[in-house]
Amino acid sequence: MIRNDALPNKFTLYCRRFFYFLKNERFNKKFNYDWNKTLTRFDIINQIIKTKKFKSYLEIGCQSDVNFSKILIDNKVGVDPQTGGTIPMTSDDFFLQNKDTYDLIFIDGLHIHEQVLKDIDNSLNVLNDGGVILLHDCLPAKIWHQTIPQTHSSWNGDVWKSIVQSRTRADIDTYTIKADQGLGLILKRKNKDLLVHPIENFKNLKFKDYYNHHDKFMRLIDENKVLDIINE
Ligand SMILES: C[S@@+](CC[C@H](N)C(=O)[O-])C[C@H]1O[C@@H](n2cnc3c(N)ncnc32)[C@H](O)[C@@H]1O
Repeated sequence: MIRNDALPNKFTLYCRRFFYFLKNERFNKKFNYDWNKTLTRFDIINQIIKTKKFKSYLEIGCQSDVNFSKILIDNKVGVDPQTGGTIPMTSDDFFLQNKDTYDLIFIDGLHIHEQVLKDIDNSLNVLNDGGVILLHDCLPAKIWHQTIPQTHSSWNGDVWKSIVQSRTRADIDTYTIKADQGLGLILKRKNKDLLVHPIENFKNLKFKDYYNHHDKFMRLIDENKVLDIINE
């Protein structure tokens, strides 16, 4: 969820919303997720690190280190072109020069489908065997939380479309944990529940599709099932 200083003013957000309503999609159903009642991303990340005895962690997009500073591990690297982390670079530039591999990678950089796909592919290339990829902001509750460009101060972007696309890959196993704005979980193993659905262009998916096929598209799991699924 992005709440940053570079947020456009309210008037700009309302104008963008109006044009989105006219040109893209009109859909007012929403989900009632209450993220105050779930574990946080750092609870889940630290739980996985501790149980799996992981040694190395990479975070893409750190902002003010709210999450990065709470991760308990010896070897941690944070990449962000603006603030936070340990390496001031975009994820693309980082992966071009990186020679290390990681046990757990948390993708939370630019929340746009095309960039998230690149971050997933690059992360898979440097993920240790048995490693885990997590992605933030996969479960927007309302249409306005996922528009491109941003139209609301609470914004998840269209990261969810990257999860749907990953669900159609046979070589990776993708889930979404119902916690902290939706945490995508990607494991480098055979897909145990391949998504078969006629989608020509994932970028063109609508919020209505996400709403109507929510469980099937996102493969939702409870926060207390994460370790069982990783250990399967
Ligand atoms: C939602 S914030 C990250 C929040 C942080 N992970 C947390 O949990 O507290 C997104 C961050 O991604 C960074 N970012 C934007 N584009 C990026 C890119 N191409 N590569 C890496 N980080 C990027 C932004 O500068 C911003 O600080």
